[in-house]
Parts: sequence; C-alpha cells; structure tokens
Amino acid sequence: MQSLPGFRDFYPEECAFRDGIIAKWCEVARRYGFVRYDAPPLEPLELYTQKSGDEIVGQLYHFVDKGGRDVALRPEMTPSLTRMVGGRYRDYRKPMKWFSVPQVFRYERMQRGRLREHFQWNCDIIGEESLRGEVELLALLIDGLRVFGLGDEDVVVRLSDRIFWTDFLKERGVGEDRWYEFFQAIDKSEREGEEKTRKQLGVLADDVIKVLNEGAESARLDEVEAGLARRGMAQYVKRDFRIVRGLAYYTGVVFEVFDRKGEYRAIAGGGRYDDLFAKQGNEAVPVLGFGMGDVVLGEILKDRGWKPNDADITVDVFVFMVNEGEERWGDHAVRILRDAGIKTDLVFKPTKMAKQYELAEERGARWGLCLKGDKVEVKDLKSREVKQMADVEAVVAWVKSNLG
Ligand code: HAM
Repeated sequence: MQSLPGFRDFYPEECAFRDGIIAKWCEVARRYGFVRYDAPPLEPLELYTQKSGDEIVGQLYHFVDKGGRDVALRPEMTPSLTRMVGGRYRDYRKPMKWFSVPQVFRYERMQRGRLREHFQWNCDIIGEESLRGEVELLALLIDGLRVFGLGDEDVVVRLSDRIFWTDFLKERGVGEDRWYEFFQAIDKSEREGEEKTRKQLGVLADDVIKVLNEGAESARLDEVEAGLARRGMAQYVKRDFRIVRGLAYYTGVVFEVFDRKGEYRAIAGGGRYDDLFAKQGNEAVPVLGFGMGDVVLGEILKDRGWKPNDADITVDVFVFMVNEGEERWGDHAVRILRDAGIKTDLVFKPTKMAKQYELAEERGARWGLCLKGDKVEVKDLKSREVKQMADVEAVVAWVKSNLG
C-alpha cells in the first residue's frame, strides 16, 4: 500500500534533507531574536472558513470528528497564530517575534512544487505598526535564503503594496465585496495571460494593466527598500505590483519570493495582515509575517546539489566483532563510547568481516574498533591506518580530539 497522492514518506536520507532545511530555518530565526511556538495540526473548521479566503477553504481536509465537531487539518499556520496571540496578547512585550515550522495540509491540484502536505517555516512580527517591521521581517526572509547559499543572482523578493491597490479601488468606487475577486484576478494574471485577466477586470482593465506593466509610486515601498538597503539587501528585492497574494487577509506591504529564472513556483510569501485579529473578534493588532515551504526550496536545493550536514545519518565509530563471544566486549565498548557522547554503532554478533565493513560504510562511520588480544585496535576506515590502544577509554580521548 502506498502513501496518499501528494503525501511523502521520508526515508532517512530524505528526512535528513528535510531536517537540514528546518535546522537552518530555526538557526536564522533565532539569530534574529525570534522564539518558537506551535499549535495543533487539527483545528475547528470555522477557523479557516471565514478568514483565509475561498481558495484555501476549497483545499481543506475537513471532516466531522466522533464528537460531532467540524474539524480541519491546518492548511496554514496564520489563523492558529492569531487565535493564540489574541488569547494572551497582553502577556507579551511588543513587538513579539515568533516562528514555527508546522506541517500543513492542502488538497491542491497536484503539480510540480505543490503537494498536499508540506512543512512551512512561519515567521511573524506581532504588535509593530511601523514599516520597521517589514524591514526586519524581509531581512530575516532574505537571510533565510542566504543560509542555503542562495544569492541575489538566484532569487528575488517581489515586493508590492496592497494599500496601493485598495486606494486604487476606492478611487474608482469599487465596493469592498468585489475586492477579493479583483485580487484573485491580479494574483492569477501571470499564469492566465492578459486576455483572460482583462475579461475578469472589466472596465478597470486598462488602468490595471498599465500599473502591472509600468509600476507605480508607493512611499511605503520606498521606505522598506531604503531600510533593506541599509541592511545591505537592496539587490534582493524588486518592486512588482502583480504580487497581491491569494489569501484574503493581507492589508499592507506584501511579497513573494521566486527564483530569478522563473523556473519554479513561489518559494515563500507573506505580508501585513492588520485586520485578522479584529475579524476573529479580538482587539486590532498590527501584524505581519511570511511562510516558506520545504517543497520548492527543496527542489531548488536538490538541483543545486545542496547537502545537509550528514551528521544526522552517520555515526563516528563502528564496533566490529571478529571472534565468537565478543558480544560482552562489544556491549562494554559501545557503552563507554556512547556515555562519552560519541555516536557509535555495532554489529550485534560476529559475522563475515566483509559484511561488517559494508555495514560500517553504510553507517558513515569514520573509525572502526575491534578487540585485539587485550588491546583495542582503531582503524581509520578511509585511510585504513591502524592504531593500537590500551582500552576503550583511550579510544574515547583519541576520537574526541580528532572529531570535527
Ligand atoms: P502561502 O503563500 O499560501 O502563504 O504559502 C507560503 C509558501 O508555502 C508558498 O510560497 C510555498 O512555498 C509553500 N506552499 C504553499 N502551498 C504549498 C503546497 N501545496 N505544496 C508545497 N508548498 C506549498 C501562507 O500560507 C501564509 N499563511 C504565510 C504567512 C505567514 N503570512 C503571514 N504569516
């Protein structure tokens, strides 16, 4: 029986790859002073039906649980975050800087870069209304790409401003009930082509297409770009009013990250969503954030030959057994090595030496250990150089001084 379409099994090497990505995300977030939080993967259906927009609601995995509750697997983290913060907003000093790495679930049409589950790095700044928040968040996002060796020649943050568009709509007397539809048309314009977009936009088409092609003024974007220039990151951003975000709740500066060549789907996306708290029945709270998935990023990194630190799937020492009856010594040796914090594996019983070597190699062991009379022999499994030592304690000292 296979896993469901769009769901992944993570064999150890794939798990190490995924964990390598997550470890980098956590490291960068902490470097920026963000703290980690988490929430349940299963939430009341209602949390999503009103706030996230029709597109994501259409992609929900939802069912009625045994207690008769309508529940859904989280398709994104943002509504859970706002619920959590709404409940204890006064307990934390502002601005709050929180991150999380949830697995999220969306019943999407399957295509390259889009699965039905993914891990999503979420970083949000809560309680900051100034554009200093955008500068800090975007700098974190950019460093979240740089840690993987992605430079400004590889990726670009396409930066836009929803307020520009809402002002545009207000000036033309378009009622709020039609805004979501309008943003959906712009969000899809790149994929669907000008003719279809024109049809969807109706009388607004000429004015909109002009902005999409030629750009427009935005004092907010000027300020954000100036801040990023001071952080030495201006070359990563490009103003682009085609970015409006498919999700319904964004209210201010918004952005999406793409590879420069445009070969992959979006790597990350986010923006300011100051109204979501109020929509959940809380006091208004200024907030902004982004999500970066492991799928597109993983494809790009694989294509570039990026490798995580393989310490997750290797051991340092492998204990061999040459003769019958060496199990006692083997157990003694691994106990001492492991208690000293050295990653160690062993054969469970003496078998053919060729088999033991194959196993040691697959485990990625650097040194092999075996009993030699009343001494211990340590073999460098790469250079095949051999050393005799008095006991396992001596091996511990030697391995420790040679690790790293
Ligand atoms: P989003 O744009 O829907 O935003 O998702 C963010 C990122 O998650 C995307 O750029 C993409 O890398 C990845 N992603 C989304 N759907 C899939 C999928 N089906 N398969 C693989 N990867 C996917 C949000 O979810 C917002 N809640 C982010 C946010 C946080 N905004 C403010 N704070």
